Amino acid sequence: MSITDLPKIELHMHLEGAAPPSFIRGLAAEKKVDLTGIFDERGAYKYKDFWDFLKVYEAATSVLKTPQDYYRLTRAVLEESVSSNVVYTESFLAPDFCGGGDVSAWRDYLAAIKQAADEMEAEEGIVMRAIPTCVRHFGPDQAKKTARCAAETAGAFVTGFGMGGDEAMGKQGDFAYAFDMAREAELRLTSHAGEWGGPESVRDAIRDLKVERIGHGVRAIEDLALVDEIAEAGIVLEVCPGSNIALQVYPKWSDHPIAKLRERGVKVTVSTDDPPFFHSTMRQEFDRLAETFGWEVEDFMELNKTALDAAFCDEATRGEVAKKLEPADA
Ligand code: ADE
Ligand code: ZN
Repeated sequence: MSITDLPKIELHMHLEGAAPPSFIRGLAAEKKVDLTGIFDERGAYKYKDFWDFLKVYEAATSVLKTPQDYYRLTRAVLEESVSSNVVYTESFLAPDFCGGGDVSAWRDYLAAIKQAADEMEAEEGIVMRAIPTCVRHFGPDQAKKTARCAAETAGAFVTGFGMGGDEAMGKQGDFAYAFDMAREAELRLTSHAGEWGGPESVRDAIRDLKVERIGHGVRAIEDLALVDEIAEAGIVLEVCPGSNIALQVYPKWSDHPIAKLRERGVKVTVSTDDPPFFHSTMRQEFDRLAETFGWEVEDFMELNKTALDAAFCDEATRGEVAKKLEPADA
């Protein structure tokens, strides 16, 4: 089996950020919202840098107004994942965009998302789990509301809690209350760090939020003592190389530290983050990693195993997904 055809596990993908531009354009037309400014002449999302990306992302998300919109979004996104042979995916969802942090509204959105996920599992075999995330630049008080939504719906489908958004706003520790609430509800924890912030932001997330996974975390490479601590503690990095190149955290694939982190013993996994924004797919991530670092089928099978071990799901699900990873003729 070729590398790009391998079954894949994805741990870091934002549902809203995975919305195909054509899907968002269709919704905008239905709702008579003018979003032409966020697309380029070929119909792709258009942005200048990370901060502009966040603005375009929020503008695109503004047309997702009802649970039914999220039902359709979930199906569209999972169809894309299936075409990359992703067999298990963890999707970040922002309760801020699904009812503004109101628990009762969030339940309605979540039910619609879960219905789409259940249908796609029955039809295509893909398994999805949901990780509600707070948005860092919406601040710690709004994050508490998000955590409450997550805590109230924790279970077999909602299995984790996380944080994305602008890493320049405040400190990881400002969000400790929200993360403590999620931990009390037995949710597993991850936070974006070491993407725009340096190694200290990764240290802060581990110390102040007690996360077991880090979203990105790649800039830990600037402090090798930290890299060794991460390896020693078994913290898992949700690395999104295509995102880091598209957003210019690193100028080119050969500059990306994923191989160095892995060689030094860090548990790395591979995801797309917001695939249409970065013109990427899981197939392409695997392809570029193979081309850049000479990784072979065995390396990708090891990445999959690391991801499955780190997945925020129950043991029965982990066992079921493990069977899907066995390639017929690797
Ligand atoms: N939300 C969606 N994508 C993100 C990223 N790459 N960094 C921070 N927050 C995000
Ligand atoms: Zn992300």
